[in-house]
Amino acid sequence: KRRIGILTAGGDCPGLNAAIRGVARASYNMFDAEFVGIRDGYKGLIKGEYKEMTQSDFSGILTLGGTILGTSRQPYRTMRKIEEDKVDKVAAMKANYKKMKLDCLITLGGNGTHKTANLLAEEGLNVIGLPKTIDNDIWGTDVTFGFHTAVDIATEVIDRIHTTANSHGRVLIVEIMGNKAGWLTLFSGVAGGADVILLPEIPYNLNSVLEAVEGRAKKQKRRFSIIAVAEGAMTTKEAGMKGKERNALRAKEPYMSVSYRVADQISKETGFECRVVVPGHFQRGGSPSPYDRILATRFGVQAARLIREEHYGMAVAQIGDIVTQNPLKEVAGKSKLVPPDHQMVNFARSMGIKFGNE
Ligand code: F6P
Repeated sequence: KRRIGILTAGGDCPGLNAAIRGVARASYNMFDAEFVGIRDGYKGLIKGEYKEMTQSDFSGILTLGGTILGTSRQPYRTMRKIEEDKVDKVAAMKANYKKMKLDCLITLGGNGTHKTANLLAEEGLNVIGLPKTIDNDIWGTDVTFGFHTAVDIATEVIDRIHTTANSHGRVLIVEIMGNKAGWLTLFSGVAGGADVILLPEIPYNLNSVLEAVEGRAKKQKRRFSIIAVAEGAMTTKEAGMKGKERNALRAKEPYMSVSYRVADQISKETGFECRVVVPGHFQRGGSPSPYDRILATRFGVQAARLIREEHYGMAVAQIGDIVTQNPLKEVAGKSKLVPPDHQMVNFARSMGIKFGNE
């Protein structure tokens, strides 16, 4: 018999329930399994908020967005800190794991979640991590579930923006999620036919963006332009700054985000009418696409196989076409950003898409 604790941590994304269902169904099918659902990620593990689950809890959730377990952000850097509440979080998590009589813990999450999963593994717990995030920035896996659904949604936003931008002859700036990683902006920008794509990994300069927009108007006689901006895009000057310095600079500006800054600067410098669209958490909501349902299910089944083999301290991954795993200690603390010379970036450049650094 295996008693399995399961939690979802960090920002939610489509496919979490499909993955939970995948772990549970494959476990019930392959061995004698019992599940304990931990509420709101590591917060529930710290506070001891959990419930026994049965097979019926996992049915009818394949297509459901969000997470039936709830989630929260408990940054890794705070895990070993004793705060005002005087709680030793690591000791509390270990004690609750014991209290629940778990054989293992399954954590579904992004980079921060994997770091904490590794910390718990180092503390002697049996942990398996599953990679979820719309950012697609987890080291060691080609893809994370949630990403492709978000690409579908962001692409639809860009598609719909095209027709209205064209009708009015405007520059439309679409802000895509991704603070450190630009994968979602790159993929949806290419899929949606954006003219300019600004990524955190490729710092931009304003003149180059202005040239791109003016060039389209003058040389190509296009009445409109679409700019896909990652929420974490930054100028070359900002890229040379430390995070704190950059935040201080931004705090002095009147803009809600980098997209509004880009819009304001373009309209002042060129006279083009600009509008900003921020789809925000819309990109993380709702039902997973068939691609993500399959990926999340495969990841869930792989986790169940690892539990059966008692192969712990692992992070499930897909490499090429194969679902496999990496040691958690190799994944923890790393991330996968868009290499500025990635083939997709170069292909986009060959098509005339500008990245603001030309
Ligand atoms: O990690 C997923 C993500 O959606 C990022 O793209 C974004 O920067 C962040 O989460 C937003 O976080 P929150 O949901 O806490 O506002």
